[in-house]
Amino acid sequence: MSRPDAAFDAAAHFDEASATRYDRRIRSFCPSYDALHQMTAAWLSRLPERAEFLSAGSGTGAEILVLGRRFPFWRFTAVDVSSDMTTACRRRVAAAGMAERVAYFRGRLQEFRSATSFDAASSIFVSHFIAGREEKLA
Ligand SMILES: C[S@@+](CC[C@H](N)C(=O)[O-])C[C@H]1O[C@@H](n2cnc3c(N)ncnc32)[C@H](O)[C@@H]1O
Repeated sequence: MSRPDAAFDAAAHFDEASATRYDRRIRSFCPSYDALHQMTAAWLSRLPERAEFLSAGSGTGAEILVLGRRFPFWRFTAVDVSSDMTTACRRRVAAAGMAERVAYFRGRLQEFRSATSFDAASSIFVSHFIAGREEKLA
């Protein structure tokens, strides 16, 4: 994946072609990709049975699918700037029978606001696409 600069546009980068290839390509860039999400599930296993979970930069939904299967009463909010990645995520979530448990915000994380709080959040392989310390903190 390319290194972003100030002009990097994640929504354009993660277009339909990229979203289609993503699940295969990410495993060649990161052979431990599936193990990473399984570890996340293990770390979070003490959360409430009905936890609210924020997936910040949800991509095609890897975290949501792993956590959703492991914790069947959790609910999720998926935030991503790419409409094509979000569409792929929605499709996978629906195929897994989890559509009722996932809400979506299509936009930049920096602009996402929630009226309710979350029990936990993940942001896996995302912040390197956000240029500058202030933007990352936001
Ligand atoms: C490499 S993917 C990671 C997806 C997922 N977390 C995973 O583990 O496979 C990075 C995702 O972050 C999203 N993204 C990058 N910058 C973003 C931003 N500023 N706001 C929201 N989403 C962003 C991209 O659209 C892309 O879907």
